Amino acid sequence: MQRHVSLFINRLVLALTVIAVIGWITGFFWEFVALGLLSYLCWTVLQACRLHRWLHEGLLSDPPVSHGLWGELFDSIYRLQLRQQRSHDSLQALIDRVQESTNSLSEAVIMTDKSGSMDWWNEAAEKLLGFRYPADRGVLIHNLLRAPEFKQYFQKKRYDEPLQLRSPRNSDVTLQIQITLFGEDDRLILAQDISRLVKLEQMRRDFVSNVSHELRTPLTVISGYLETLLDHSETLHPRWDKALKQMQSQSARMEALITDLLLLSRIENQGRDFVAKPVRMSGLLQSIHHDANALRSEDSPSIELSIESDSEIYGDETQLRSAFTNLVVNAMKYTPKPGGKVRMRWYTEGNQVVFSVEDTGIGIDPVHIPRLTERFYRADPSRHSSSGGTGLGLAIVKHVLLNHEAVLTIESTLGEGSCFQCRFPSSRFTPKALKAG
Ligand SMILES: Nc1ncnc2c1ncn2[C@@H]1O[C@H](COP(=O)(O)OP(=O)(O)OP(=O)(O)O)[C@@H](O)[C@H]1O
Ligand SMILES: [Mg+2]
Repeated sequence: MQRHVSLFINRLVLALTVIAVIGWITGFFWEFVALGLLSYLCWTVLQACRLHRWLHEGLLSDPPVSHGLWGELFDSIYRLQLRQQRSHDSLQALIDRVQESTNSLSEAVIMTDKSGSMDWWNEAAEKLLGFRYPADRGVLIHNLLRAPEFKQYFQKKRYDEPLQLRSPRNSDVTLQIQITLFGEDDRLILAQDISRLVKLEQMRRDFVSNVSHELRTPLTVISGYLETLLDHSETLHPRWDKALKQMQSQSARMEALITDLLLLSRIENQGRDFVAKPVRMSGLLQSIHHDANALRSEDSPSIELSIESDSEIYGDETQLRSAFTNLVVNAMKYTPKPGGKVRMRWYTEGNQVVFSVEDTGIGIDPVHIPRLTERFYRADPSRHSSSGGTGLGLAIVKHVLLNHEAVLTIESTLGEGSCFQCRFPSSRFTPKALKAG
């Protein structure tokens, strides 16, 4: 290009010099110079007009034929356009491939901008969520997915946990929604049909619940006969005495197991579908404290109750009683040291209200803490085999708290004691509690 520019300048200077010389020889110097410059101006305007016409014709037609600098200019623009067209085509091909592959997914994929307007979605989104193209383009997603829990989840911007939602097209279909933030608060939303999984989970719950029900009747009969036999043990040979006592203690253990399994499956099945009423926490905790004291023996730890907040929460009193009682009984059971202490506390911390049970008992090795709420999990089964626990207590606590949007936190030091905290969010406070908090 640089070569063409200097060639053009040389030619221009040469032509002007020739014109000037002719003008000087003929005695019309200025007239010749003016005529030369005017001719050059007309030629330049003509080339500019050709460029303009070509640009308007569509750039991929052949460029106008020209010489010198203008010819080089036309060719350069043409080459640039060809390059741009090629990269545009390859980008378009890539976009088409991505769209084709996402369209073949069974999961719905949706992209929204930072305000939540629908930018793009695949075919599965139309099938699962009923979106229509192009009518829904630019519409706010929560105007299309109207479930309040979706709006809350969408606006929260914390997407560690997925959300379960019924499909707006078919209430038998359960969807799992997962959102990822990218760019400037743009969102990539994935929705997956998990109806099969939900059905299997329901079948598992029903199975456990049915088996527990079915076992209860024969077990009641066995326990009844064992009791009768033990009542008349003097008429039996003494060697039966130990066997009968063991049978009775094991059948009591099985009864406790069945009771806990039934309670757990009821709490699980109920989920959050209960009429939440304000629960008078001070009354509930005093009654649990009273019952726990009634259970105490000589070696049991002392139990202290400290109510530091008059907060009340919306919930199911029976479920809460069972969860809190489980924690208090655990603390008593695992604090065998003489002079041990258990402290129940009800207090406000930040925007949460907390029920905590602290003990000075045996404590828990940190490796077990993440798994403690699993069904039948015990920190040390050999150590607790004599205590007769079923290992379902903390699973019940976890589900009750889940139903109340609360979380369980566990802190413990082996040999020193443990602290179990049930943290309720502000959405569960009664207005009175909010004022107090
Ligand atoms: N306060 C505590 N101190 C020490 N270990 C504890 C405490 N609470 C729970 N654990 C440990 O967690 C395990 C699970 O507790 P969980 O209440 O679920 O079962 P469990 O007490 O054995 O039986 P149950 O179903 O009768 O309550 C216990 O076996 C025990 O090892
Ligand atoms: Mg327990």
